[in-house]
Amino acid sequence: MQSIQNVVYEDLEYICNNLKEEFACLAGKRLLITGGAGFLGYYLVQSVLYWNKITDEANSIKLTIYDNYIRGVPNWLIRLKDNNNLTLVKHDITNPLPQDIEDFYYIIHAASIASPTYYRKYPIETMDANVNGLRSLLEYCRVQKEKNKPVKGFLFYSTSEIYGDPFPENIPTPETYRGNVSCTGPRACYDESKRYGETLCVNFAQHYSLPIKVARPFNNYGPGLKITDKRVIPDFARDIFAGRDIVLLSDGSPTRTFCYIADAIVGYYKVLVKGRDGEAYNIGVEKPEISIADLAEKVVKIAHHLLDYKGKVILKISADKDYLVDNPNRRCPVIDKARTDLDYNPSISLDEGLKRALTWYHNNSEAEEA
Ligand SMILES: NC(=O)c1ccc[n+]([C@@H]2O[C@H](COP(=O)([O-])OP(=O)(O)OC[C@H]3O[C@@H](n4cnc5c(N)ncnc54)[C@H](O)[C@@H]3O)[C@@H](O)[C@H]2O)c1
Repeated sequence: MQSIQNVVYEDLEYICNNLKEEFACLAGKRLLITGGAGFLGYYLVQSVLYWNKITDEANSIKLTIYDNYIRGVPNWLIRLKDNNNLTLVKHDITNPLPQDIEDFYYIIHAASIASPTYYRKYPIETMDANVNGLRSLLEYCRVQKEKNKPVKGFLFYSTSEIYGDPFPENIPTPETYRGNVSCTGPRACYDESKRYGETLCVNFAQHYSLPIKVARPFNNYGPGLKITDKRVIPDFARDIFAGRDIVLLSDGSPTRTFCYIADAIVGYYKVLVKGRDGEAYNIGVEKPEISIADLAEKVVKIAHHLLDYKGKVILKISADKDYLVDNPNRRCPVIDKARTDLDYNPSISLDEGLKRALTWYHNNSEAEEA
């Protein structure tokens, strides 16, 4: 089995190799990432610092993270805190921006709770980060332009959930699909605040001619995603490492496509730098569209091989009555727009990604705290 460090190192190398042009555009500039302590932050942050290591000092990207550390400061970030090109600021994005805010040339707004279990627990905070937090960052972009210090790229994290539960004829789903979404159901705090967030982005982009772009991620997984995050793949990993059977709290029939995090990160930086202003891009993979039951069987097979795991998959009913309400039956993107506009070509297979994810979770205390 590979070591955790090897998996991370190979992923960072893969990301940087696929982002030569994009990181060259960020060279020597200040980049702000909100929510940088989270799952996506794990590689968004480390790939920039890795690129800094392999480039001239003068071209280093100066990175600042704003995060309220709602679930603690992860160890991987504490380890990086003395890096000269990294500034960590404890800031809740729903509060007014700090008075001494720097001039940022690129901004990624990733601060929001993303796990369904947690956003249902903190619905108001989730909406505030995606609407009020976004609004003050967009306002910052507007003012910076007036000051003649224009932001060159702004990325808002929306979600594939803005499509809701598409009708069969709208799957695979292109960016032009308008969605089939409840505005009052248990998931609405997330889906609807992301939808309104996109509306804010489009209107700021058009009205003030600002370079604001939107990514719609489709189910990412891999290193950085806490084993305690209550998303499907870490849940499987938790069962495996506890040596028990994998329990599915559904009949396992809904289908998804799963995009390994290294491929997704490449897509996000491409949207930030090359995306068209005021437009949204699906970032994910088209294949395989796999049922949760088949995914569980696949993970079991890989774990048998990799870890000598002896468990099996069993089905149960969740005690949480809202657990599956408005849960889409199928989710699968069309990614032609990102392929054409951005030269986005995800290439890590599901089997390889799952192997890497399980390796990262194996004996990794950071997977609990990360
Ligand atoms: N991971 C995915 O597959 C996925 C899918 C669709 C959309 N997204 C979106 O991508 C973004 C990042 O997702 P993630 O998986 O890294 O989420 P995450 O929950 O792992 O991390 C989010 C980070 O944001 C911080 N945060 C939350 N509210 C904040 C606030 N008010 N002020 C400052 N910081 C705050 C948290 O402390 C955390 O570090 C989110 O906007 C999410 O909705 C992710």
